[in-house]
Amino acid sequence: MGRLAGKVAIVTGAAMGQGAGIARAYVEEGARVVLADVAKDAGQDLATALGESAHFVHHDVSDAASWAGVVEETERRFGPVSVLANNAGILRFGQIDSMPVADVETLFRVNQLGCFLGMQAVVPTMRAQGGGAIVNASSVEGLAGMAGCTAYAATKWAIRGMTKCAAMELGPHGIRVNSVHPGMIDTPMTRVHGGDAAMEYGASRVPLRRVGLPGDVAPLYVFLASEESAYINGAEISVDGGVTATHAFGG
Ligand SMILES: NC(=O)c1ccc[n+]([C@@H]2O[C@H](COP(=O)([O-])OP(=O)(O)OC[C@H]3O[C@@H](n4cnc5c(N)ncnc54)[C@H](O)[C@@H]3O)[C@@H](O)[C@H]2O)c1
Repeated sequence: MGRLAGKVAIVTGAAMGQGAGIARAYVEEGARVVLADVAKDAGQDLATALGESAHFVHHDVSDAASWAGVVEETERRFGPVSVLANNAGILRFGQIDSMPVADVETLFRVNQLGCFLGMQAVVPTMRAQGGGAIVNASSVEGLAGMAGCTAYAATKWAIRGMTKCAAMELGPHGIRVNSVHPGMIDTPMTRVHGGDAAMEYGASRVPLRRVGLPGDVAPLYVFLASEESAYINGAEISVDGGVTATHAFGG
């Protein structure tokens, strides 16, 4: 029996990158999964490839009304939501003195507000069932600083902080909330900023001497959604090849 047998999950940003890896792993472990994404074609293609246990919903995580629709559709198709992988996110670099405010606001809306709205949308149904698991995608940018990344990092620190608050608030209802902190993962998000050269440079900075793959991250999302992590709540877990194991003088 799969480690997620009987679970019903929503995975946001599931059309590509880490979200696609999470959705695939959840289905392989026996969950029924709604893949929610703004990318219609890629999301629909993946859901079709994953078979009857997967269903695609076109969804913008920054739109509160859209969230209600996703939860409703998930429940109609598969039953009450027991897992939310709050994975969708965008990356924009920008210096503090020149970054357009519109870019900053877009980051806040998608990454930070989107994560909050996701938790808000699933809490009533999880509470009614007596529990659930929420996994929020932060980053190593939610654990340390990086030049040119202030606005993005603000959202990832916010997600880390919201995770702790949510764990306190929702723990008494049996709802566990944890954050995942990936390092540099080879996905469309990172490829767009420099391709192979960026990957090679990134790999040279990682103690394990390689960047991560979506398949390195998905097992953590499986674990945090499963009963194996029944006593893990409010935790922040890095999956970064060791980049946050040191400080700037660490080499
Ligand atoms: N790739 C990395 O190195 C890295 C590192 C740390 C954290 N993260 C975080 O991990 C998560 C996944 O990143 P990824 O690398 O797979 O990115 P990606 O760009 O490869 O995939 C992100 C997915 O989210 C979707 N998406 C974007 N905006 C959306 C919205 N408003 N509503 C719904 N879906 C939306 C995209 O269509 C895409 O399918 C993000 O939260 C990201 O910030 C990524």
